[in-house]
Amino acid sequence: MNAPRDAKLEVYSDPRVAAEYDKRWDGALGRARNARKARAIRGALAALGSPDVVLDAPCGNGRFSALLSSGERRYVGADLALPMLADARARHAACAYVAADLARLPFADRAFEAAVCIRFLHLVRARELRIAVLRELARVSSIGIVVDYRHSRTLRVLGRRVRHALGLRDRAPSNPSPDAIRAELAEAGLEELAWIPVHRAPWLSDKVLVVARAR
Ligand SMILES: C[S@@+](CC[C@H](N)C(=O)[O-])C[C@H]1O[C@@H](n2cnc3c(N)ncnc32)[C@H](O)[C@@H]1O
Repeated sequence: MNAPRDAKLEVYSDPRVAAEYDKRWDGALGRARNARKARAIRGALAALGSPDVVLDAPCGNGRFSALLSSGERRYVGADLALPMLADARARHAACAYVAADLARLPFADRAFEAAVCIRFLHLVRARELRIAVLRELARVSSIGIVVDYRHSRTLRVLGRRVRHALGLRDRAPSNPSPDAIRAELAEAGLEELAWIPVHRAPWLSDKVLVVARAR
């Protein structure tokens, strides 16, 4: 799988970027966004029957390590950026972390019950790379996967489209429609089990967690 990596995803190898990562969850709004995502992740795990062995990929600086390793659950975090992994290890000494590329995960088939992929796919512009990652997440999961997407059916994206049409925004929004997301999942050999809007008012936000399993 030789698709180029996206610049937005390469930046996390810079220790200065890694050191600043948590700033976006500072303040009341940041904490509320974090809490919404955590609630959606809990809902997604419940939809998979509360798996006991979970891969968090990419785990970044361990933002969701505490949530995903809570209780008796066995947890591994994987990420390509060493500074992000170093932060994760420093915060969660009891968790296991592995340096790994999501397009070539160094794990056996069905090594985990579930794989959780947060804040990643919407940054991957190349469809072939997104599909390769979905296939890898599915390959290492015996029950299913949780994937964070940004879709197009929201007022937020409609607003961006209007601004683009009026010349007030350079690029048209590239968010995929729900059908395009399902087509991508199908191409990776997956079927949707649940569609979990991250926001309680889904028409305001483009964020969704898609729960899927191998067909
Ligand atoms: C926006 S962060 C999200 C991290 C975490 N899931 C969260 O919600 O905070 C994206 C992460 O993807 C990692 N990453 C980028 N390309 C990767 C790849 N090919 N394989 C594994 N991790 C990658 C980056 O190092 C970064 O930590």
